Amino acid sequence: MSAGTVLTLHSYKGGTGKTFTATNLAAALASEGKNVCLIDFDLRAPSLDKVFGTDGRKFWINDFLDGRCEAEDILADLSKVVKGKGSLHVALANPSMASIREAVTREKKWEMKALRRLIMFNEHLTQKMAMDYIIIDTNPGLSYSSINAVAAADMVLVVSSWDSSDLSGAQIMVKELYGMLEKHAMVLMNKIPASLLRDEAERKRMTSKLEASFNLPVIDLLPCDCEVIREEMSSILVLKKPNHPLSKSLVKVAHHIGKE
Ligand SMILES: Nc1ncnc2c1ncn2[C@@H]1O[C@H](COP(=O)(O)OP(=O)(O)OP(=O)(O)O)[C@@H](O)[C@H]1O
Ligand SMILES: [Mg+2]
Repeated sequence: MSAGTVLTLHSYKGGTGKTFTATNLAAALASEGKNVCLIDFDLRAPSLDKVFGTDGRKFWINDFLDGRCEAEDILADLSKVVKGKGSLHVALANPSMASIREAVTREKKWEMKALRRLIMFNEHLTQKMAMDYIIIDTNPGLSYSSINAVAAADMVLVVSSWDSSDLSGAQIMVKELYGMLEKHAMVLMNKIPASLLRDEAERKRMTSKLEASFNLPVIDLLPCDCEVIREEMSSILVLKKPNHPLSKSLVKVAHHIGKE
């Protein structure tokens, strides 16, 4: 992926691991010296405030999309979290109930303006702040806002679970929506029962079958790991447990994305 690239994480169903993956990819890339901005574009169920804290935040991405503030007003510099050579900025979504209710009732006209504002924000991040990666975490499915996050991306990472309805829905979504938007996309399979991944030959067979059904490259198959579920929401696995097998896989995914 070239410098200043926008990567959106999307899925058909909820809970596939988009926020978990987006946070870990952002931390992995920033730890390795990249300038990264992570955007919570899940205005219907904000999550990154639970990971990074809100620290007296006055403005949110919602305010920027509404034209109520400037790009700089919504950015929190959390570079100290990664202790690396790079930087990590985060743009949070407003987690208040009033903002969530507002987000689900927005009309098409507002969403069209929001897409223009999101593109403007990304341009500010790449041109004025020299961001290498803008990572957008969005809500699942085909709401206007998640389609906006896909439309604004240079590359989409589809995070899919092993659930059959998620898989078939994601495959249709890729073909119809991403096809129409001509998006460069890749798939990350997550939360796969660990027992299915023990045999390398079986893993390769699964990967080829999935690549044929999605007609897209499958970067990796990540196991469902109960240790992750036990972790606090605020802990970032690649930083807290860099030697954990899932952290190593996530770092490899980050490298893979960097090469695209
Ligand atoms: N490989 C994994 N093994 C076990 N738990 C995981 C794994 N990946 C993510 N999780 C956990 O699954 C839960 C849901 O993950 P996450 O919030 O990232 O999903 P999401 O796709 O962002 O959900 P939503 O669509 O609701 O935004 C979290 O508790 C997360 O820590
Ligand atoms: Mg999420």
